[in-house]
Amino acid sequence: MEPLSCQSLSERIKDNTLLPSMPATVLAAQQLFNDPESSINQIAHLLKADPSMTAKILKVANSAYYGMRRRVDSIETALVILGLRTTYQLLQTLGVISAFSGRVETDFLRNLTRHSVIVAMTCSIIANAAGLQFIGVDYTAGLLHDMGHAAIHVVAPDHARLLRQKGDLFRMGCDKEQGLIGVDHCQAGKFLAETWGLPDMIGQCMASHHRSLNGDKELSIPAIIRLAVSLSGHLGHLHQHQPDVKYHVSLPEGHFASALPFEAILQALKDRLDEADEIAALLIH
Ligand SMILES: [Fe+2]
Repeated sequence: MEPLSCQSLSERIKDNTLLPSMPATVLAAQQLFNDPESSINQIAHLLKADPSMTAKILKVANSAYYGMRRRVDSIETALVILGLRTTYQLLQTLGVISAFSGRVETDFLRNLTRHSVIVAMTCSIIANAAGLQFIGVDYTAGLLHDMGHAAIHVVAPDHARLLRQKGDLFRMGCDKEQGLIGVDHCQAGKFLAETWGLPDMIGQCMASHHRSLNGDKELSIPAIIRLAVSLSGHLGHLHQHQPDVKYHVSLPEGHFASALPFEAILQALKDRLDEADEIAALLIH
């Protein structure tokens, strides 16, 4: 198989007959959720215009994980019970995942969903620990950071299959991908962010999340994503079957997170791993 060039990857991703677009409901909801003046009724009205999205949010809200005492049977109730932030996070996850549903293999999409939700949660936890409120950008950037993998799966399925045969996509690293197929998922992420018209900050995260932590002395969203991606490498060991194992996270000197309580961050993350499994299982059959 011929390796891909960066230019041909860019052309394929920008060819709008190949890739899905971001669902309109997710884009419209972004503005409403980020506007402090928005009312629950306005948001519910928008969501109800998309019955399949509404049905999926209710399904997740009624799942065992969220464990509501009474059945959530309307989007208004979901908004009140889950809260605006969680509903919005669910909406984003559903929107992004459903965009790729049916276009990539189910196993891959389930793994991508789980990985993306875990990194998104990690970003939120780090941002909280650092005392920051980024109105959800941290979660969104975490959720989208690896969508370059999905883009490669859609526009170059044979190349994607070769990558999957050669190891764990989420641990392989860009150098190995380049050696195997000529391009990597960070380049694909950059082109996807441009094609979807995502904010520059999100595009930066998609393009640079595997760079070294060495330069991350200042707190920023891309720095949070890099740390979250690096922490997510610990997650295989963080599983509930090893509750007493302690982890040591070594950060470069002067790193912005050096003073953060890592034990607490890892514990918070561990507490939410089941939620990521639940969401991935509910969304992808
Ligand atoms: Fe990645």
